[in-house]
Amino acid sequence: MTGQPVVIVGAGGFGREVADVIDAINRTASVPAWDLLGVHDEAPSQLNLSRLEDRGIPYLGPLPGDGSDRIVSFVVGIGNPRVREKLADLIEGWGWEPATLVHPAAVLGSAVRLGAGTVICGGVQVSTNVHTGRHVHVNPNATIGHDARLEHFVSVNPAATVSGEVVVGSRTLLGANSIVLQGLTVGADALVGAAACAVREVHPRTTVVGVPAKAR
Ligand SMILES: CC(C)(COP(=O)(O)OP(=O)(O)OC[C@H]1O[C@@H](n2cnc3c(N)ncnc32)[C@H](O)[C@@H]1OP(=O)(O)O)[C@@H](O)C(=O)NCCC(=O)NCCS
Repeated sequence: MTGQPVVIVGAGGFGREVADVIDAINRTASVPAWDLLGVHDEAPSQLNLSRLEDRGIPYLGPLPGDGSDRIVSFVVGIGNPRVREKLADLIEGWGWEPATLVHPAAVLGSAVRLGAGTVICGGVQVSTNVHTGRHVHVNPNATIGHDARLEHFVSVNPAATVSGEVVVGSRTLLGANSIVLQGLTVGADALVGAAACAVREVHPRTTVVGVPAKAR
């Protein structure tokens, strides 16, 4: 018995990490949940094509101009929130179904609601009553505190800490090892630099870096 057909969009690093998440889910299920058909990418580098080949993952070419004649599940494996939003909107317009993936080595608390297309990687800790929007990425070893909200297309990079009751606006990226202190709002389209500690609200469309984090 095979699983649900799924394709990944993006042959880069995160796209291939998504393939690992799918493999891990299938390994722990009594029957495989997903049948990974391959990876779409507009213009993959030769290096990424050979990395796919080494892993035995088919390269499916660029996305079709119109995919509405075949319906599959898909995950956008691209870290950039704006690019991810553009592609997800296009593909969902064809009727393809976003796959929501949780690595079996992630720990999820109670009353967690994950938006369609969200990917939770291995080692992530999600506390209680956390909600994510569409196509949110939570990278390995990140921690999401109780009652937090990650709106659409947020990217939480590896080992970032989102404290309790934090709200992160759409398309915002939290850099690797960054921290957002409890109860704060990080506005939409913002960027919290790697290793920054946000101790005050972060305004929309603002990049902050450092400890304590300041706009640059
Ligand atoms: C903050 C960030 C967006 C800045 O990117 P950028 O605009 O390309 O910045 P640059 O690399 O040109 O650096 C500009 C200045 O900011 C400083 N800077 C860059 N990133 C910084 C960070 N995270 N914390 C503190 N200072 C930082 C640089 O030292 C440089 O300082 P200078 O002008 O005094 O020399 C980026 O460095 C970052 O932290 N992104 C998160 C990436 C991440 O999480 N990567 C892991 C992926 S798994």
